[in-house]
Amino acid sequence: MRRIYHYNNPRNVGSLPKNDMDVGTGLVGAPACGDVMKLQIRVDKDTNTISEVKFKTFGCGSAIASSSYLTELVRGMSLEDAGRIKNTEIAKELCLPPVKLHCSMLAEDAIKSAIKDYQTKSNRGPPTLGKNL
Ligand code: FES
Ligand code: FES
Repeated sequence: MRRIYHYNNPRNVGSLPKNDMDVGTGLVGAPACGDVMKLQIRVDKDTNTISEVKFKTFGCGSAIASSSYLTELVRGMSLEDAGRIKNTEIAKELCLPPVKLHCSMLAEDAIKSAIKDYQTKSNRGPPTLGKNL
């Protein structure tokens, strides 16, 4: 019943402030259908784990269910583990039919992209610091 649950009660829909230094934003599109997913993570930098996750999906029901499931899955995970999640795990959990596989791919791409954004940001340091260096 997991799939029905995530279709009807998507978890963690919304946004995080994308300029916060501890927030990573992933924005990805599915070439197969043009649907778009935004996924944001907040990272606890002491433990390097994900403390909060929000998503918005401008896409089909399977994409919404995939991102909802993903948000529950990655909360509390280390960045390394979250970056290793495969769309096939999501598709299996949600019983997605083959034609809907790309919807779960969107969720995998989105979490990878959010992690990358966070890492780029934290390597660069706060924007105001760079100016006078
Ligand atoms: Fe309910 Fe797969 S067991 S959708
Ligand atoms: Fe494209 Fe689902 S049909 S994301």
